[in-house]
Amino acid sequence: MTKDSLARIDESPNDAVTNPELLRDAIEGLSGAEKTLPPKWLYDRQGCDLFERITTLPEYYPTRTEAAILETHAAALGASIPPGGALVELGSGASVKTRTLLDAAPHLSAYVPVDIAAGFLEETAADLRRRYPRLDVVPVAADFTGPVPLSPRLRDVPKVGFFPGSTIGNLEPEIARDLLAGARAWPNVEGFILGVDLVKDTDELVAAYDDAQGVTAAFIGNLLTRLNRETGADFAHDAFAYEASWNAVATRIDMRLVSRRDQVVTLPGARIGFAAGEAIHVSAARKYTVENLGALARSAGWKLDRVLTDREDRFAVARLAP
Ligand SMILES: C[S@@+](CC[C@H](N)C(=O)[O-])C[C@H]1O[C@@H](n2cnc3c(N)ncnc32)[C@H](O)[C@@H]1O
Repeated sequence: MTKDSLARIDESPNDAVTNPELLRDAIEGLSGAEKTLPPKWLYDRQGCDLFERITTLPEYYPTRTEAAILETHAAALGASIPPGGALVELGSGASVKTRTLLDAAPHLSAYVPVDIAAGFLEETAADLRRRYPRLDVVPVAADFTGPVPLSPRLRDVPKVGFFPGSTIGNLEPEIARDLLAGARAWPNVEGFILGVDLVKDTDELVAAYDDAQGVTAAFIGNLLTRLNRETGADFAHDAFAYEASWNAVATRIDMRLVSRRDQVVTLPGARIGFAAGEAIHVSAARKYTVENLGALARSAGWKLDRVLTDREDRFAVARLAP
């Protein structure tokens, strides 16, 4: 924590703090030389709903492109899932695209959606139980960057991982590698289906993360609302502007909230100073090539078995084998 950004430290308990973990992450992230907030906190109820709206935006090609690849190759992907197996999905969200795999693999015995948004996860699981009454739906509310606590009763069941949505692109490369290596160590894991967005035209990429209706801006800005509600922070919304830009060095889109003026924001235990134009880095969306996707898979102990793309090579669904 620097003296400039943290003028006051107060250790006294505060009733306004309903999410001490978020408060701790926020103070840590906002106290560094480059201010950051971890993207996993974007997904409160409102954030989950806003993300679902993003998936339907005209500019946001990844969801519909990945959905089309999954539909085109559903039979082959379904056949690659072992009979009686479990599909373990990381960052499952609304599990919409998942239904293509569930329909193509009626021989599955269990579906394990893993997501940090516990309430949304339970609602989605209830909906899937209604749609697939013979399937054992076993939701796990957890942070997928740590060990995924899989039910002991699924220990001997053959497993296939599923990580769509290019959510892997939100992770730093070493965290992405650790996540894939962690999945490689699941008992009886037989494969992994990974969706990644591919490097493409910069304007198209930036538009996908800065849509004309401002839904992505609302999604990122909602983190400030969440901080105010769950930690008692006093962020003023109109004091920050949303900005998405292409980072050619890291081959990723950076999503930031930029301070419109000199200001001080107070959180319980910290006062954070912002200069006009200073940014909080909230999220990144890394784009891959098939080559560096293969390198990532190999570094985590997987082999790139098949890479399925759309006709224009906008998005890839890769099947990894142990
Ligand atoms: C980009 S959305 C993708 C949702 C869905 N899989 C899709 O393809 O449309 C990311 C999802 O991952 C979840 N998520 C983000 N960070 C997470 C973390 N660290 N641990 C577990 N889930 C996380 C979010 O709650 C959200 O549902």
